[in-house]
Amino acid sequence: MPHRLAVYPGTFDPVSNGHIDVIERGSQLFEQLVVACAVNISKQPLFSLEERMEMLRECTADFTNVRIESFSGMVVDYVRSLSGKVILRGLRTFSDYENEVQMAYANRTFAPDIETVFVCASLEESFISSRLIREAAALDGDISRFVPEGVAKRLRSKASALKGEVKKHSEGR
Ligand SMILES: Nc1ncnc2c1ncn2[C@@H]1O[C@H](COP(=O)(O)OP(=O)(O)OP(=O)(O)O)[C@@H](O)[C@H]1O
Ligand SMILES: [Mg+2]
Repeated sequence: MPHRLAVYPGTFDPVSNGHIDVIERGSQLFEQLVVACAVNISKQPLFSLEERMEMLRECTADFTNVRIESFSGMVVDYVRSLSGKVILRGLRTFSDYENEVQMAYANRTFAPDIETVFVCASLEESFISSRLIREAAALDGDISRFVPEGVAKRLRSKASALKGEVKKHSEGR
């Protein structure tokens, strides 16, 4: 039976051109693609859930079969709640491969009826990660090549806010 719906889970802190590439490919493979922003993640995100979802909505407005949601708890439970059978993930490098395959096997153990499908972004986007973008933005690096303009703007304002915090601390305030 063909799969109509896929769920692309992630932190999207913030959404990058790599994520958008994966979303575009997913939207061409499936009738409906749900991009699911993780709520309860172990890492403390730079952007709030609302900000991460808002940026995702802005960047995917042109894809009519893509919708942005959030989830907490196990991905497989969330996919089941939508009667879905497919988890979409992106693969970049060999370092991704190990983690991603481990997660796919774990999810298969929890839910043998749900399949993880991997896609690769275009080569030019394949090295981009949100962490790299956050770090470069904090150091005033030019991140315009890695994210859509709206995201770059928000990163710049976050970076200056972060620097303000650092300055306050160093001045003993
Ligand atoms: N440039 C990219 N090309 C292909 N897949 C990607 C790319 N960036 C992220 N992904 C994939 O998107 C999914 C969600 O990733 P996630 O939200 O953790 O982004 P991330 O860039 O890995 O963030 P962080 O650096 O904060 O861990 C994962 O499957 C990840 O491998
Ligand atoms: Mg990651």
